[in-house]
Amino acid sequence: MNQTFRPGARLRGTLVPPPDKSLSHRAALLGAMSAEPVHVSNYLDSEDTRSSLRAVQALGARVDERADGMIVRGPGLRRATPGAAIDVGNAGTLLRLLPGWLAGQEGGSWTLDGDASIRRRPVDRIARPLAQMGAQLDAREGRFPPLTITGRPLRGTEYVLPVASAQIKSCVLLAGLLAEGTTTVVEPEPSRDHTERLLARAGAGLSRAGHRVTITGQDELSPGAIHVPGDPSSAAFHAAAAVLVPGSRLVIAGMAANWTRVGFFRILQRMGAVLIGDLEERADAAPDAEPLCDLEVAHGALAGTRVTAEEVPLAIDELPLVALLGCFAEGETVVEGAQELRLKESDRIATVVDGLRGLGADIEATADGFAVRGTGGLRGGTLHAHGDHRLAMLGAVAGLASSEGVEVVGMEAAAVSYPGFAQDLAGLTG
Ligand code: S3P
Repeated sequence: MNQTFRPGARLRGTLVPPPDKSLSHRAALLGAMSAEPVHVSNYLDSEDTRSSLRAVQALGARVDERADGMIVRGPGLRRATPGAAIDVGNAGTLLRLLPGWLAGQEGGSWTLDGDASIRRRPVDRIARPLAQMGAQLDAREGRFPPLTITGRPLRGTEYVLPVASAQIKSCVLLAGLLAEGTTTVVEPEPSRDHTERLLARAGAGLSRAGHRVTITGQDELSPGAIHVPGDPSSAAFHAAAAVLVPGSRLVIAGMAANWTRVGFFRILQRMGAVLIGDLEERADAAPDAEPLCDLEVAHGALAGTRVTAEEVPLAIDELPLVALLGCFAEGETVVEGAQELRLKESDRIATVVDGLRGLGADIEATADGFAVRGTGGLRGGTLHAHGDHRLAMLGAVAGLASSEGVEVVGMEAAAVSYPGFAQDLAGLTG
């Protein structure tokens, strides 16, 4: 589906962002792994998170929809239905987290596969630490889906992550729940910590010290009720549009304020955007809670910035928007240490650079990111989403901020994380 986004319409009003995708995946998994029924409220209804619900159902969970959310029942930590073919669709998080739960369940064998994009996403990054724990994983060419997991007894390990990836970290921690002894993951830089917060709440023996997270084997989990806050990665698109389109002023309500997720908003602030609200987590808040915040964002001038490697995991999915903002900023905007972008739903260094250059940007790819010279604007044109949801939404925001508008080819990709995106945007600009 092609959709054209025309310039000029300022954003006004309040956005309640869709529920967080990362936390929704984890709520479905933790719900299924729990000894007791788990009430999940504000679960994201999107293609990716529907894949997670279907996966846990195939593994023996019951999901009952209710007016105030849904109840996920079992099958429990060690009792997944032993043998299923699971279609993860486009969901990289499901592909990387689920094997962590399954690998330690003896007597079962499961195959995970998905769409054309998922077949290009590497799984050796999780196969390596799981094999170190005694797991058996077989992937196409040793590296790509389809991925078969054969349940085996696991032993605890210490694993130093080669890249700061919340997906690999989460996979190893979930495997650690079913392993004998303790499992430690060492991160090069902090990445999103939703799994740690949820597991701590569920009574898992989890401790953190600096960049080390340690978990001990468990018999049962009980996370209690899980409420999913608004997704900062989705809200970031409207926030960027508000900053770029003159006359805009937008309130974002009920967004996740977890400090490992709001790196983009800190970058936005550093570039000089008018942003009112508190991006700091309260010092007296429970360490395993997922806090919410309200923000106000308004149009204003921007200055170029340098995003360094330690900031990258905290803003990983929003870096395409930093490239777009850089087109409008004074001076140069550089993102470095972001080679992981090449392994996302598309090669996001290539697709962002080619996409924005096609709209008139002065941008070039580097080995580990990109460099943009601000020209004060963007002409417009056509941008291909390449089946990548975040690229489709990037094109839409670029269109609003451009001088001639942008036609996005493949706008339907947005439904992977944010089915109501174009409608919400229209509501704020109408
Ligand atoms: C995610 C972690 C990130 C992110 C992805 C969701 C998660 O991936 O890009 O969209 O939910 O854990 P990596 O951990 O591979 O960086």
